[in-house]
Amino acid sequence: MNLDLSNKHALVGGATGGIGKASAIELASLGARVTLLARNEEKLKQCLDELPKGNGQAHDFIAADFAEAESAAEKVQHHMLQNGISYQILINNTGGPPGGPITEAAADEFRRAFEMHLITAQLLSRALIPGMRLAGYGRIINVISTSVKIPLRGLGVSNTIRGAVANWSKTMANELAADRITVNNVLPGATLTGRLESIIQSKAKAGGKSTEEVSEAMKSIIPMKRFASAGEIANAIAFLASPAASYITGINLPVDGGRTGSL
Ligand SMILES: NC(=O)c1ccc[n+]([C@@H]2O[C@H](COP(=O)([O-])OP(=O)(O)OC[C@H]3O[C@@H](n4cnc5c(N)ncnc54)[C@H](OP(=O)(O)O)[C@@H]3O)[C@@H](O)[C@H]2O)c1
Repeated sequence: MNLDLSNKHALVGGATGGIGKASAIELASLGARVTLLARNEEKLKQCLDELPKGNGQAHDFIAADFAEAESAAEKVQHHMLQNGISYQILINNTGGPPGGPITEAAADEFRRAFEMHLITAQLLSRALIPGMRLAGYGRIINVISTSVKIPLRGLGVSNTIRGAVANWSKTMANELAADRITVNNVLPGATLTGRLESIIQSKAKAGGKSTEEVSEAMKSIIPMKRFASAGEIANAIAFLASPAASYITGINLPVDGGRTGSL
């Protein structure tokens, strides 16, 4: 099975924490040259130092905000032009929307989530697709959620935007398949990252419980009875990015320890 990503260049969103950071590390360890993208420049510099460079890869970063889609896409275009590079791998990943019941969600929460998760993914994809076409190799991987299959309680805005991204992604997969560009979604289950910790804390606060009680209750409904590590999600992302996944496109891949109660 060919997992070699030498001579591939990957742009990884939300790359300074959790799933994005683990993905950047995994892609780099398979030989890819990686551009990290997130907001905080200090964290970006730290993560850059942590990336494997066994292939002599010259990794770099772009500081940009997914909540400002046009500006983020312009920064990426500028970076490509300035450095004479194109990307063959795009990981559309960023911070998740805040939790809360949908009946209490404000209009701006939906607007922000749409901008961060859908419009930015669209503009970044459009910026990168010409280079992927030229290379005859493209992998667009969207990190969304198992809520695409079964909405999760207390994550109203998130459930809504994930459905939109999944349909956007499937449409794009059909349009790009003949160009050897695949578009797939990875659906993480409960994964031990900063995001999960903050969800546990807010559930504990809302329910008057300890974070341990909330954690145990969450684990009890997962057939594997544990949370995922970010690295386990990154493994699925790296596989989909690899030459080995050449005939897989337009799918939702749950990586959730069996939690989702549907096929
Ligand atoms: N963890 C889970 O259990 C779980 C489960 C299902 C789905 N997911 C989804 O998977 C995705 C990644 O989750 P995670 O747990 O890895 O999150 P995380 O640990 O909170 O990390 C988020 C990353 O995104 C960056 N980021 C946040 N807001 C950004 C913005 N506006 N623009 C650019 N970068 C931004 C953060 O860096 P900066 O703050 O420095 O920008 C950080 O690098 C999210 O969509 C999340 O909802 C997670």
